[in-house]
Amino acid sequence: MRRSISILVGVFLLGNGAGGQQVLDNTELMEQMFAPAYAELTRAMGHKPADRKAWRTVLDPSRRLAELTNLLPMRRGKDFMAKPEWTSSTDASRKALLAIGDAVKQMNYELTRKRYEAAVESCNACHKQFDKEAPILKPYVPEYK
Ligand code: HEC
Repeated sequence: MRRSISILVGVFLLGNGAGGQQVLDNTELMEQMFAPAYAELTRAMGHKPADRKAWRTVLDPSRRLAELTNLLPMRRGKDFMAKPEWTSSTDASRKALLAIGDAVKQMNYELTRKRYEAAVESCNACHKQFDKEAPILKPYVPEYK
């Protein structure tokens, strides 16, 4: 009996181990992790960074958001989260966020602004596609603090 329980536990851990395990649901993830990083990025984008240190205040939250998109394909709870479109929307958003970093490396504010706006559009694209209740984020207006 004990043996079969440990086999069962082993199978359970194998099944859940490899890709991690969802803790927050998507609403919590967006509210508690995406929103603060987005607010930070938006604040930093409000004016041209003066020096290398100030550029980091743009780079860091954009990279944090890009990393956070890696948590989206494993979200569960709504049927659409298992669709390939959910994952491709996630990939598009990650790509747009990482493109901010390339502009930051050139310390090119105009290009960084364009990339930032495109990244916000990528967030909104998923929101529009999957949830009519999800917010349409406006660049440079930090609605979420
Ligand atoms: C792959 C789809 C997808 C992507 C990409 C995405 N979101 Fe979301 N987001 C959602 C969905 C779906 C909701 C609706 C909340 C829910 O799941 O109940 C949401 C809700 C939100 C909310 C509102 C949370 C609340 O209820 O208070 C914020 C803020 C948010 N997203 C920020 C962002 C930002 C910033 C980005 C881009 C960096 C982003 N999201 C990218 C799917 C996505």
